[in-house]
Amino acid sequence: MHATAIAQPNIALIKYWGKRNISKNLPAVGSISITLSDLYTEVSVNFKPHLSEDELIINGEQNFKMLPRIAKCVDNILGEKRSRVQVSSISNFPIAAGLASSASAFAATTKAVASAAELSYTNLELAKFAAKASGSAARSFYGGFVELKNIKDGIEVKSICEASSWPLEVIIAITETRKKAVGSSLAMEISRKTSPFYNSWVSQQNHDLGIARTAIAQKDFKKLAAITEHNCLKMHSVMWASKPPIIFWNSATITCMQMVRKLQEEGLNVFFTIDAGPQVKAICLKEDSHLVRTKFEEISGVKQVMQSSLGAAARLVKSS
Ligand code: PMV
Repeated sequence: MHATAIAQPNIALIKYWGKRNISKNLPAVGSISITLSDLYTEVSVNFKPHLSEDELIINGEQNFKMLPRIAKCVDNILGEKRSRVQVSSISNFPIAAGLASSASAFAATTKAVASAAELSYTNLELAKFAAKASGSAARSFYGGFVELKNIKDGIEVKSICEASSWPLEVIIAITETRKKAVGSSLAMEISRKTSPFYNSWVSQQNHDLGIARTAIAQKDFKKLAAITEHNCLKMHSVMWASKPPIIFWNSATITCMQMVRKLQEEGLNVFFTIDAGPQVKAICLKEDSHLVRTKFEEISGVKQVMQSSLGAAARLVKSS
C-alpha cells in the first residue's frame, strides 16, 4: 500500500523530438541517452482510499498543475477505477527547467505505483507505462547508455553499455532556474506542424543513431562528441525555424557552448548537449571534468554548476 522509488534523469545524446502518435505518446524517432547518478527524484506513493481526489506534493508543496499528468500516469498502470493516491516527490535539482526532471519523476512514480499496488511488471513493461507520460522517462528504467527504439506500434528500450564500462562525467551549467515557458510536448507539436526542417530531422535520425551506437561500442569519444553536438544543434534548428519560434537558449547558454569549443581546441575531451531548456550539459572524460567545471563556474550568467557520473536504473527503495 506504500512504496518509494528513486530514478535519475537521463540526458539524450541523440534526441527525441516529435511524436508519431499523440494519444499513445509514441516518439517519431528513436533516441540514445545516458542515465545520471548524482541527480535524482525520489517518489513515495501512498494509497488513500478516503481522499476524493489524488494528491501531489512536489518538494513539500501541494502541486495542482502537474496533478492531471500524474493522475493519468497512475490510471495507465492501475486503470481508472482505483483508490486515490498521494504522490510525494523530492528532486535535488531544479524541475521543469530542461534538466529532464519529468523523466526521473515519471520513472520513479511508475515504479512506486506498481510496487505499492503489488503488481509484478517487467522493467520494460514499466518503462512503456512511463513513456506514455513522458517519452524520455522510459530511458530512466535502464542504467548507463540507453537506446530507445521505435518498433511497430510501440517502443523497445535497453541498456547498450554499462555506466562502469565507459565512466564519463557530466557537468551541467544552470543558466536559468525559472520554469520554462513552453513544455516539451507542446513545443514538439509546434515543430511538427510548422518547422520546414521537421521532416528531414525525422528522416536523418536513424543515420545519427547508427553513428552514435558505433561510437559507444568502440568508445570513440570524438565520434560520439561530433554526432551528439550535431544532433543537438539540428533539434534546436528545427525549433528555431518553427512558427512561432521556440528558443530556449539565453546568452549564457551560448557562452557555455563557446567555452566547450575553446576547450576542445585546447585538446580536452568534452562535448555539449542542450535539451528543451537553457542549461548546457558538457560530457567529458573524468580527468577533464575539474577543468570543465571550473570554466563553467567562471562564466557570468551561470547560476549554478552541477556534476554527475553515469548511473543506474530506476529502483525501489522501500515498500510495505
Ligand atoms: O520526454 P519529454 O516529453 O520530456 O521530452 C524530452 C525531450 C528532450 O529532452 C528535448 C529530448 C530527449 O530525448 O530527452
